[in-house]
Amino acid sequence: MAYITFLDTKKQIVKGNEVKDFLNSQDVIYEKWGVERLEGNLKENYSLSDAEKQQIIDSFRTEIDELSARRGYETEDIIVLSDATPNLDALLDKFKEEHHHTDDEVRFCVDGHGIFTLKGNDGRYFDVVMEPGDLISVPAYTRHWFTLCEDRKIKCIRIFVTPAGWEAIYEENTASAN
Ligand code: LAC
Ligand code: NI
Repeated sequence: MAYITFLDTKKQIVKGNEVKDFLNSQDVIYEKWGVERLEGNLKENYSLSDAEKQQIIDSFRTEIDELSARRGYETEDIIVLSDATPNLDALLDKFKEEHHHTDDEVRFCVDGHGIFTLKGNDGRYFDVVMEPGDLISVPAYTRHWFTLCEDRKIKCIRIFVTPAGWEAIYEENTASAN
């Protein structure tokens, strides 16, 4: 289960229903999808073939389709980050810069861990620490950044509206790049 830490006070929200309620109050979708359905190899392997990536996506097809129908998402893929990822540190340097997107950024954590830091409705920043089985949406235009945890690995399904909406916009108060 994901948990929340506020950056200013270090106060935490750890109880499942309180985490979900808090996230929903920030217009963040939170869902838990069972990862036990994945065979060990699909869960633990960090050098997946395209066919294996598709197998993982297909394992969550019902949930993805239900969420996508509700929210207008159109496509999905898998991102794998680990020490085996070329340029991992350069990628992480990018992800830790505050930015927003013009569409929701939706991530389902299949394995590993990650932290999304979001700017809340009241301007306070909070960490959402994700573990396997957690899905969150970073709402369109919500300022955020991303870091890995001590295990330095995560495997996520990303769910999108359109490629244009994934673009990272680093300047605040800017609707589109340039
Ligand atoms: C992204 C995450 C890391 O935009 O926020 O890919
Ligand atoms: Ni982002």
